[in-house]
Amino acid sequence: MAKQEDIFKNVVSHAKEYGFIFPSSEVYDGLSAVYDYAQNGVELKKNIREYWWKSMVQMNENIVGLDAAILMHPTTWKASGHVDAFNDPLIDNKDSKKRYRADVLVEDYAEKINQKAQKEIEKARARFGDAFNEEEFVTTNARVIEYLSKYKEILSRLAKGMSDDLQDVKALIEELEIADPETGSRNWTDVKQFNLMFGTKLGASADSAMDLYLRPETAQGIFVNFLNVQKSGRMKVPFGIAQTGKAFRNEIVARQFIFRMREFEQMEMQFFVRPGEEMKWYHHWKEARLNWHLSLGLGKENYRFHDHEKLAHYANAAADIEFNFPFGFKELEGIHSRTDFDLKAHEQYSGRKLQYFDPELNENYVPYVVETSVGLDRMFLAVFATSLQEEALEDGSTRTVLKLPAVLAPTKAAVLPLVKKDGLPEISKKIIEDLKWDFNVAYDEKDAVGRRYRRQDALGTPFCITVDHQTLEDETVTIRHRDTMKQDRVKITELRAIIENEVSMKNWLMKM
Ligand code: GAP
Repeated sequence: MAKQEDIFKNVVSHAKEYGFIFPSSEVYDGLSAVYDYAQNGVELKKNIREYWWKSMVQMNENIVGLDAAILMHPTTWKASGHVDAFNDPLIDNKDSKKRYRADVLVEDYAEKINQKAQKEIEKARARFGDAFNEEEFVTTNARVIEYLSKYKEILSRLAKGMSDDLQDVKALIEELEIADPETGSRNWTDVKQFNLMFGTKLGASADSAMDLYLRPETAQGIFVNFLNVQKSGRMKVPFGIAQTGKAFRNEIVARQFIFRMREFEQMEMQFFVRPGEEMKWYHHWKEARLNWHLSLGLGKENYRFHDHEKLAHYANAAADIEFNFPFGFKELEGIHSRTDFDLKAHEQYSGRKLQYFDPELNENYVPYVVETSVGLDRMFLAVFATSLQEEALEDGSTRTVLKLPAVLAPTKAAVLPLVKKDGLPEISKKIIEDLKWDFNVAYDEKDAVGRRYRRQDALGTPFCITVDHQTLEDETVTIRHRDTMKQDRVKITELRAIIENEVSMKNWLMKM
């Protein structure tokens, strides 16, 4: 089996080679943790966005969309808590001058100890086979007990240091003798908080320019528009406002390709509910969002919930939907019960009332909010990495195939004339002219047909339609299915229905 690291490298190089993702401004050697979506990537990303939008806005009568500006009044970020509390704890190495997230240094150290325990468990499992009782083993094996209790102790001391005193985090780093991962030096500065928001200026003159921030989440654009939307749309609680758009964070540990970026896109929905009913809706949205992910068919085993034990100051419940990325289970989406924290804070800072008159209760209140927030780029990575497969074929060769959910594939069908003569290209182009109103289709006449199939497999195109000499006689073509490589002979007039059946959002979303 290929190593996780190799699989991930393969994902990154495939994304570049086949025109999905390029490093930003690559001619200048790129910009760290910023990426451009290329000709195929932009289609896949658009399709994921549409799949989300359709399921959230179009399929729910009580959810409407919004496209708020990226630039917002700076007080927004004071009210939301981002100016004071949207920080990462950073530590510098005095010798290498490299900067690290102090909590990540400790977490990585702890994870190595956890891995030692896991290795012992796996060794024992292999030794005892079916008779292995993991629960008994981890509670009786002295070495495993020692590793796991050390692991837990480090994480709990880190959590305490992070909330009480960052000096304790530095002390922990020194006590564990954690070294700079790149140079081995243990010469550390103190741990300091570093705000993740990018600043910018509005206005021309240096004196009068106003300090602004690039939004670090799209959610606040929804909160400040809550009453505008509710009144102009005559919305009744419970209702939701959904938005997709760019967010910016000056991430220090920016690694793992498009998993953690400095400029990324979020798909967020804030659901406004009666105070006291938030837990009911929190559980509703947890389930609904997981079902949305599962509808894409990437495998149930690749998802899990991580319920937060330690909650942010504004939340009374929170969970992540974690996905099994090539580097392990990590957060893909957050579902947060945010109470009335944000609306109340905006009331306080703006001096305006952000309340709803509930005609059934005959009273005014500040609604509670349940948020669903998923990163579009992380969704892209989840879908892309899981779909990329090397398949052994019966003839002993292998093929690289991008088994994207057909509904998300950038190109739905490629039309290939078997040869570049005898009128076959003309028929192929006629088929394209007809299909392109409904689907993104491509024409390809270069190379032998087998190579063209392989290329479309690597791009994730669900269908290849081949026009050959029989087409001239009976107006039939072969249609090849990407995943099974099965070929059927069908009438040209049947093509639209066959493609539609596999790629229609309706058919996929009905699986929710
Ligand atoms: N409004 C809530 C919010 O922003 P978050 O957990 O900070 O919550 C939500 O972010 C989602 O946005 C994450 O689950 C992740 O998918 C995505 N995300 C956050 N930071 C990101 C980054 N630096 N790069 C890519 N995606 C990111």
